[in-house]
Amino acid sequence: VKAKYLGGIAEAADDSALEELRLAAVGKKGEVSLKMRELGKMTPDERQVAGPALNALKNEINSALAAKKEALEDAALNERLQSEWIDVSLAGRPRREGTIHPVSQVTEEVTAIFADLGFSVAEGPQIESDWYNFDALNIAPEHPARQEHDTFYMHRDESDDRPPHVLRTHTSPVQIRHMEKHGVPCRIIAPGRVYRADYDQTHTPMFHQIEGLAIDKDISMANLKWVLEEFFAAFFDLDGIKTRFRASHFPFTEPSAEVDIQCSWVDGQLRIGEGDGWMEVLGSGMVHPHVLRSAGVDPDEWQGFAFGMGIDRLAMLKYGIPDLRAFFDSDLRWLRHYGFAC
Ligand code: PHE
Repeated sequence: VKAKYLGGIAEAADDSALEELRLAAVGKKGEVSLKMRELGKMTPDERQVAGPALNALKNEINSALAAKKEALEDAALNERLQSEWIDVSLAGRPRREGTIHPVSQVTEEVTAIFADLGFSVAEGPQIESDWYNFDALNIAPEHPARQEHDTFYMHRDESDDRPPHVLRTHTSPVQIRHMEKHGVPCRIIAPGRVYRADYDQTHTPMFHQIEGLAIDKDISMANLKWVLEEFFAAFFDLDGIKTRFRASHFPFTEPSAEVDIQCSWVDGQLRIGEGDGWMEVLGSGMVHPHVLRSAGVDPDEWQGFAFGMGIDRLAMLKYGIPDLRAFFDSDLRWLRHYGFAC
C-alpha cells in the first residue's frame, strides 16, 4: 500500500491527480482510513503492532502529499516567470516630442512682454464684416486702401446686395470690437491670423499680426514710443534699441507713423540694434476720432494710440529666416534646421 501511494504521489502531474490519490488513501473512505477502522476488531496484540504502523503510514502519505503540492506550485511559478519575463534593461524605442511652431512661440513671447506692460489679450473673428474691417476704421467704400489690401471677399448670392464679408485683412477691426464691448479706458493687444491675396518671399496669403491699442484721457505719441522701445529691447534681448518714426498715412490713425528699428548688414547677416541702417517693422499712430466714434467712444474725452505689426516678420528678424513661405510649409527638416523641432 505504501509503495503504491508514495509512487503515485511522486508521479502526480497536477493538483487534481494529487487530490484523487489523497481521497483514495486517507480520505474518509480511503484505503488507509478503512484499515484503521478495522483496528477495533483486532486483538490487543495485533492492534499494538498495526495501530502505530497505520498511523505512521498515514503521516507519511500526508507529508508526501504536502511536499508534492509545494513542488507543483514551485514548478508552476517557474514556468510563469519564464514565459512572462521582461528585459527591463532593453533600451526604449525613441519617440520624437512635438514642439511649438515658431510663429506660435513668437506670439507667446510678444504677448508675455506686453502683459508685463499692462496689456491684456483681445480676439476677433477671422471672417469679418465689411463694416468692422473697413468702414468703422474710416476706410470708405471708394477708399484706395481697400484695393491696397488685396482683400479676399466671401461672395454672396447675386440677389443679396449687402456688402460681402471678408477674410480680415488686418487685426485693426479688433480695436472696434473691443471698445464697443468693453468700453474705455483700455490697453489691449490682439494677435491673430490675417489674409491678403499676395505671395512672394516676404508675403503669404495668410499671415499673423499683432494689434496694440491703448485709450485713456491723456495718452500721447510719447507713450507709444516708450512702449514700443521697451517691447523691442525685451523681444530682441537688447539693452536699448533706436527707433525711427516716419510720417505715414493710415485712414484709422492721425497722425500716423511707420516705425523702423536700427539694424545693419554684416557679411550678409542682419544685425538688429546695431549700425546705421533701418528696418521697417510696424504701422502706428493716434487713433482717428472717426474710429473712436464708430466704436461709441467720445473723441472729445478719450484718445490713444494703436499699432499693428507682423508677427511672422518679427520671427524672421529674430531668427534670421530669409523666406516667410517656409514658415507654413510644415517641412520638419526646415523646422529642425532652425532648432524649432527635435
Ligand atoms: N492695420 C495696419 C496694417 O495692417 C497697421 C496699423 C495698425 C497701422 C494700427 C496703424 C495703427 O497695415
